[in-house]
Amino acid sequence: MSGRHAPEWRRADRANRAAAPAGACGTPGDVLAALIDSVEGGELHVRPLRALLDSGRFARFAEIGLALRRAFRDPARRDYFIARLKPHLRYVIGALPASIQRHGMLPPEPAQPQPDALQLEQVSEAELRQWLVDDGSLIYGEFQRYELENYFDAIAPYVTPGGEMIDLGSGLGKVVMSAALALPFARCTGVELLGYRHAMAAERRARLLARAGELLAGLQPGLQPGLQPGLQPGLQPDAPLALPCGHAATLRHLLELDARIALREQNMFEADVSRASLVFIYSTCFAPLMDALAAKLARELPQGCLVSCTTFPLTHPAFRLLHHFPSNSVAWTSVFLYQRTGPADGPPPPPACLYAPDPDEWEARVRTECAAQDAASA
Ligand SMILES: C[S@@+](CC[C@H](N)C(=O)[O-])C[C@H]1O[C@@H](n2cnc3c(N)ncnc32)[C@H](O)[C@@H]1O
Repeated sequence: MSGRHAPEWRRADRANRAAAPAGACGTPGDVLAALIDSVEGGELHVRPLRALLDSGRFARFAEIGLALRRAFRDPARRDYFIARLKPHLRYVIGALPASIQRHGMLPPEPAQPQPDALQLEQVSEAELRQWLVDDGSLIYGEFQRYELENYFDAIAPYVTPGGEMIDLGSGLGKVVMSAALALPFARCTGVELLGYRHAMAAERRARLLARAGELLAGLQPGLQPGLQPGLQPGLQPDAPLALPCGHAATLRHLLELDARIALREQNMFEADVSRASLVFIYSTCFAPLMDALAAKLARELPQGCLVSCTTFPLTHPAFRLLHHFPSNSVAWTSVFLYQRTGPADGPPPPPACLYAPDPDEWEARVRTECAAQDAASA
């Protein structure tokens, strides 16, 4: 399809529409709008640190993180902290790794010093590098609703009804659930590594389905998602339902919501993407993973599949760029839309260095943040 893009994107200053008030649904279209508005607020979720850190792989993540944070907080070890991070700046998002900051995912320091606590000196370069990759990929963020609406408008001309949308790194499932509502996919699947985020997404999904049931039943007693009640004319499953980006659907779009949304707790590198028609990746913190992700998608996606990612491009020749939406158009960061068209097994492209901060600038920023931290704790 040719590009049919909104000439003016919704902007932060005109941000999100007011959510539809509860109980104000007179038509299936009202129900759809109210459900879309209800998938909100995941970025504010409280991180259940204990559960995360007690889970196998992340226990070591916590140990190394605490060693790094102790070195950062100790003015006498600041130079050593900087010297250890400097060779790995490609993997540091921003000035300081997210987890060691105040809002980060590490627990508070124990009240009593632990004599056997891991020291940064005991952490190898390879371990530190992997820790930084994990730290970046575990950062959480969601598009705001107006950004998602822009994004859906941007991709809608390329979406054909049916097919499977997959969000790799789906977090609390906002994109998966919103896409299942706004676009005519047969199925929308989220793949999330962290168990607690997957569990929160599953709760969000259950709340969405319960709300859909209530609102549809409010339109017509006896109408429940997944059932085939004796419907009145006008509310038959085949009754037309206009989706917000211009696609035509029927009421089945809402009645079958349960079957159309799937969530998996899984490493995205192990996910089955062989039947995908759109892969979404909020890849802003995935710079070190982009080459490996592109190689997986080039190998496993069907021809014609759409792939969108944020901030960092896919440099593999299997992907043809359809659109680059610069930052502050569709969303705060740039959004790339590709189509899988090239050879699956061509020679791999040279590794792309997508993110290479200047070491001197980085050190100056870190020292400024350290001074602020010292002043705060004086
Ligand atoms: C920036 S959040 C985006 C959440 C969601 N896609 C959205 O846009 O609302 C990235 C998510 O990817 C998850 N993640 C990181 N590495 C992953 C991996 N290897 N497999 C699956 N999920 C991963 C993180 O835990 C995090 O929840």
